[in-house]
Amino acid sequence: MKLCTAEPAALDAAAAALRAGRLVAFPTETVYGLGADATDAAAVGRVFAVKGRPVGHPLIAHLADASELDRWALEVGEEARRLADAFWPGPLTMVLRRAPGISPATTGGRDTVGLRVPDHPVALALLERCGVPVAAPSANRFGRVSPTTAPDVLAELGGTEVACVLDGGPCRIGVESTIVELVGATPTLLRPGGVPAEAIEAVLGRPLAAASGPARASGMLASHYAPTVTVELLDTAAALAARARALLGEGRRVAVLGADGAALPVGAVRLGAVGDTDGYARLLYRRLREADDSGADVLLAVLPAPTGLGRAVQDRLRKAAAPRP
Ligand code: TXA
Ligand code: MG
Repeated sequence: MKLCTAEPAALDAAAAALRAGRLVAFPTETVYGLGADATDAAAVGRVFAVKGRPVGHPLIAHLADASELDRWALEVGEEARRLADAFWPGPLTMVLRRAPGISPATTGGRDTVGLRVPDHPVALALLERCGVPVAAPSANRFGRVSPTTAPDVLAELGGTEVACVLDGGPCRIGVESTIVELVGATPTLLRPGGVPAEAIEAVLGRPLAAASGPARASGMLASHYAPTVTVELLDTAAALAARARALLGEGRRVAVLGADGAALPVGAVRLGAVGDTDGYARLLYRRLREADDSGADVLLAVLPAPTGLGRAVQDRLRKAAAPRP
């Protein structure tokens, strides 16, 4: 895999590679995606192989423009149209009935498809050139931390058959899209993400149902988004400092996240600041990688308040901290 500056010639080559059934990693406003032609079962199969992802886990199909909605989804209701108007391009994925053009390989055999129009100039330029929907999970190995820079994609997928990674700089949002299912009678939140649930509820004029039953999104598995280091979560910086002191006393190496400015015991490795809730979202995955690079045994992280993007940050941190299967 090579790293490419997203110039017109590189975008043309990347689009041609995608149309020929090859894989291309590209930036979006949320995280970097690993793209394949969503209408081509063999191309999509390569995504699952490169990621080591179980084939039943459906991929999101990315569109160049909201006007393509009815071409790739069936029975699109009024609420889905309102959400597309309000949030596309942007970090919202809508799960709708799959139109026949989308390969069942993309949807893990389901009759529904996750669709989104990303809000990133490089992603949109690539999608326009391709002329097909692009199935793209986050460009990381299954279960691991999503990449938010092009070098992070190389660290995850270097040495694989991916044609290239288009460099679009660091991702602006930093956590994946919010996924809402609009198939049954009640819109359901499958994964909190880059559009706050409150904003979606305000547009719908009614609350989102919470997902229940078996995990329908791989982001709903208990353990996911996991760095190598063990993660422990705390509610306050004071509780974190006390836990850090205890662990250091046992001879453990400790890294600290989300306690900007708080007093810490000597020996604790303070990762870079995250700032407000949006900053925490933007920097979370970068910091989880830095925690692994720091050589710490344990990462202690303070949970942000669960409002706005804080809900997605909490969700990802809890999954990063969950026992590994
Ligand atoms: O922000 C994002 O959504 C990023 C960027 C690249 O767009 N993509 C992403 O893809 O996070 P991935 O594969 O890592 O997560 C997609 C999630 C999975 O949890 C998958 O199960 C769920 O979307 N999903 C996709 N299609 C679905 C469907 N038809 N029904 C239920 N869940 C679906
Ligand atoms: Mg992912």
